[in-house]
Amino acid sequence: MSCDLILALDVPTREDAAPLLRQLRGHLRWVKIGLQMFTAYGPNYVREVAGMGFQVFLDLKLHDIPNTVGKAVESLGPLPIGMLTLHTAGGAEMMRAAAAAQQKTNPDLLLLGVTVLTSMDGAGLAEIGVNAAPDQQVARLGRLAADAGLRGLVCSPLEVSLLRAQLPPGMQLVTPGIRPASEAGSDDQKRVMTPADAARAGSSYIVVGRPILKAADPVAAARGILAELNSA
Ligand code: C5P
Repeated sequence: MSCDLILALDVPTREDAAPLLRQLRGHLRWVKIGLQMFTAYGPNYVREVAGMGFQVFLDLKLHDIPNTVGKAVESLGPLPIGMLTLHTAGGAEMMRAAAAAQQKTNPDLLLLGVTVLTSMDGAGLAEIGVNAAPDQQVARLGRLAADAGLRGLVCSPLEVSLLRAQLPPGMQLVTPGIRPASEAGSDDQKRVMTPADAARAGSSYIVVGRPILKAADPVAAARGILAELNSA
């Protein structure tokens, strides 16, 4: 199974992003635009990044009543985006509304369900009334998402084998929490995997931010990660 690289464009401004994107163009396919950049610059920024030749993953983690999320997906569908996130905790009906809107407006768009945020642990789940271990809750929400018509999930690389064991084989699994072998243990990511290990575990895509963004040579960092993926 092949695994591709997605750059998390976690920088404060478009001026910070521009030189990085110019350098990385042609070296990697996918760029993830998150809430920070989308809130600041909106749909035009998505068009701008797509216009540079990148495939855009829009990470908005939608979560609202089914009608509102469906309408939001209808508004976003015509944008040049290849992936869009929503919270599976919004429930089956919300996910079905999102999937129907996606089919109508952008049949190639991959809707990705977020299960349990990796910032939540068992105690955090108990606080909001969920009395399940995080991995049980991830598995439960993953199945719910697949049944509701989503074709992909965002998850920790450590959850990939658990999910692969229970989900339809075509499910796309997108995993952040990746550090190149040389950098494991840096930044605030605690439960990390190397690119090669994530690919071997069954990730379809890995999301990498700081190891590329903060590298002295971002192109070399991206190429190193792609080489690791190819060797896996
Ligand atoms: O810089 P780093 O490689 O840690 O960036 C990882 C990206 O993936 C960030 O955009 C972060 O918000 C996102 N992410 C994550 N863990 C999750 C979900 C998303 O690190 N569970």
